[in-house]
Amino acid sequence: MTTATTATATPPSGTVQHAPRTTVIEVRDLVKRFGEAVVHDHLNLDVYRGEVLSIVGGSGSGKTVLLRQIVGLERPTSGTIRVFGEDLTKLDAARLQALRNRWGLQFQRGALFSALSVIDNIALPLRELRTLPDDLICAASLLKLQLVGLSARDADKMPSDLSGGMIKRVALARALALEPELVFLDEPTAGLDPMASDDYVALIRELRRELGLTVVMVTHDLDTLVALSDRVAVLADHKVLAALPIRELVHIDHPFIHEYFLGERGQRAMQALPALPDAARAAKHAATPAGPQSGEA
Ligand SMILES: Nc1ncnc2c1ncn2[C@@H]1O[C@H](COP(=O)(O)OP(=O)(O)OP(=O)(O)O)[C@@H](O)[C@H]1O
Ligand SMILES: [Mg+2]
Repeated sequence: MTTATTATATPPSGTVQHAPRTTVIEVRDLVKRFGEAVVHDHLNLDVYRGEVLSIVGGSGSGKTVLLRQIVGLERPTSGTIRVFGEDLTKLDAARLQALRNRWGLQFQRGALFSALSVIDNIALPLRELRTLPDDLICAASLLKLQLVGLSARDADKMPSDLSGGMIKRVALARALALEPELVFLDEPTAGLDPMASDDYVALIRELRRELGLTVVMVTHDLDTLVALSDRVAVLADHKVLAALPIRELVHIDHPFIHEYFLGERGQRAMQALPALPDAARAAKHAATPAGPQSGEA
């Protein structure tokens, strides 16, 4: 299987050119309609290896439908979607399944199977492969449980006995069961209190560093967005308006961006970005020959 290497899109003036990046997801000219209703209209998006790309947009703007098409759960009306260089619409069932094993999903709905214990929920993707003996599956699932910060004591609990934060962690452990290179997270911190949400963010950061994951995330939570995203793709007017680091995104003149990032909540969340006013950043770049090379969060 091949992955395409492309040069970065021309950066806005004043930013430093990045090295060429490997594209793991390439969405081109995507149109999605449900009957008469248009959700996506010639939408384009690239996701690069190793980045955290977040997707934001109003409720009903098509974030979940976009993720569902990228993972092959929903078919585009037209256009192409390539993941790891493979055109999803051209794959037969067996090759699509092989590709699916290379990514993990933590979706907005349907977090855990309520009739299965924690360990059986995590083991499910491995059992479905039907290639490993059960003792190995249990051992691997326990490792995943520990990877997300839970312990063997939690293995036999039922989902109804878990806190909201623990449910998210178990769902993440299941998403990581097949050791994916790519994970999709749809509203991963929704419903968590601020502390649990911060813990989850720290966990994703650590996993990304340790496992070299590429993360595609949909979130309404501005703090999570600011803390984790390398780039943010804004879905508006049935398209991806822009996919840029937050610092660059906020300069785009569009009502959604104004309302979302420059309102009171957005301003507050963005205080968590490394605080360097533009003039100070320019001075720092000038004074530091090998200074930081991007404005990414
Ligand atoms: N299977 C379907 N049949 C018909 N319409 C659908 C279907 N799935 C989604 N839609 C519609 O597509 C639009 C986009 O839905 P989607 O769930 O992607 O929104 P979203 O951006 O994820 O919203 P939210 O932020 O509320 O989760 C909505 O108008 C929704 O009603
Ligand atoms: Mg959604």
